[in-house]
Amino acid sequence: MPAIVVLGTQWGDEGKGKIVDYLAQKAETVVRYQGGSNAGHTVAVDGVEYKLRLMPSGILYKGTLCVVGNGVVFNPKVMLEEMDGMIAKGVDVSGVRISNRAHVVMPYHCIMDGLGEEAKGDGKIGTTKNGIGPCYMDKCDRIGIRVCDLIDKEEFAKKLKINLAVKNDQLVKLYGHEPLSYEEILKEYEGYADRLRPYVCDTIALLHDEIKAGRKILFEGAQATMLDIDYGTYPYVTASHPVSGGVGVGAGVAPRSIDKVVGVVKAYSTRVGEGPFPTEQLNEIGDKIRDCGHEFGTVTGRPRRTGWIDACILRYAGMINGLDYMAITRLDILDSFEEIKMCVGYKYKGELLNEVPASLNILAEVEPVYETFEGWMTDISGIREYGKLPEKARIYLERLAEVTGVALGIVSVGPNRDQTIVLADDLF
Ligand code: GDP
Ligand code: IMO
Ligand code: MG
Repeated sequence: MPAIVVLGTQWGDEGKGKIVDYLAQKAETVVRYQGGSNAGHTVAVDGVEYKLRLMPSGILYKGTLCVVGNGVVFNPKVMLEEMDGMIAKGVDVSGVRISNRAHVVMPYHCIMDGLGEEAKGDGKIGTTKNGIGPCYMDKCDRIGIRVCDLIDKEEFAKKLKINLAVKNDQLVKLYGHEPLSYEEILKEYEGYADRLRPYVCDTIALLHDEIKAGRKILFEGAQATMLDIDYGTYPYVTASHPVSGGVGVGAGVAPRSIDKVVGVVKAYSTRVGEGPFPTEQLNEIGDKIRDCGHEFGTVTGRPRRTGWIDACILRYAGMINGLDYMAITRLDILDSFEEIKMCVGYKYKGELLNEVPASLNILAEVEPVYETFEGWMTDISGIREYGKLPEKARIYLERLAEVTGVALGIVSVGPNRDQTIVLADDLF
């Protein structure tokens, strides 16, 4: 069964785009199963950088099917902008397939995301304001508009009328916002529908045919385990299921179709937005990580919060996702650090904890137990074999595998495709 899941283990931006693009060399199909345009996946090929938000990171290989699954909240404007950007760079987008069951992000979702954040004041989540939460809320409220509605002119007009009456009421009465124009949205979205119609299909049937034919499928997670609505640092999370369990519901495939799960792990930690972050370094170490790693958000441009790697959350991610391998990224960013730390346990009120605590008050107060490693202090970006990495780098990586109980599958030493060291021969 040649299906593999590649997902984030930390708080996002681990380098999933790079790893998916690398592994997609061998894939016939790449599938997004959750999230939406809140994702920002960067793929670098031959010195050209591609920033992907809704587009699966397999698009740079001609002939690869790129599926936006039913679990995605789909912003047609962003998708068309991405497709146009790709076409302008000479990329073939004919392999795009969009699920007719995916929910459509509407202008009021994005506006309400922003207004909702403002209303929360100090309790804000720090969302990307892409309308993700509000769109999933409408889905659960059973008033959402799906892609099959978007491409059906009459149905869309009807559903928009009903929805907009409710949303305008809320916008005006709750937030004192201007009501939105039915005619303008209708016209705008009819235009999107006309352009997107050829790409829409029943992706569930498509994926089942692919699986039956033994084709290689790669499921691309967006966001990450610690941003999962159930497993992350709730409420400072996104509104979907980035974990491997999300693939079944978000793409319509049975769990037994999945062969391997690869967790992408940044060699240190970052987080954008609010919420607890036990290993955060609010000091010159954190500043150095941000500077060396150019840690600024792809979607919002916000400076990312930075800190040491946290093996406690990686062990947790290993359990939840059933990780077979870790793909370590950005190891090269640590090249100039004399000393590197790894959090191997949490202490709370003097006691070692066995689990990642559910209570944010406890998580915010845990004291990380660190192991300290000597830095390798040399440029590793040109190394292509594991055995040629400095011994000090291997000690760090091997200790991480030991503490997390997850094997090393890939080590990435730069953003480009060739800056990838593969340790596992049965990855895909
Ligand atoms: P994603 O959201 O998980 O796909 O990650 P982002 O694309 O938001 O952020 C990861 C950044 O790291 C991107 O700019 C990548 O091009 C870059 N990147 C990925 N792997 C490596 C690596 O091993 N070394 C370096 N220096 N950059 C990397
Ligand atoms: P990729 O796929 C990092 C964060 C936001 C915020 C929280 C909720 O590039 O790793 P949302 O807009 O989803 O309601 O915001 O989740 N967040 C991300 N952080 N990488 C991402 O995606 C993220 N997508 C959402 O910053 O804290
Ligand atoms: Mg990102």
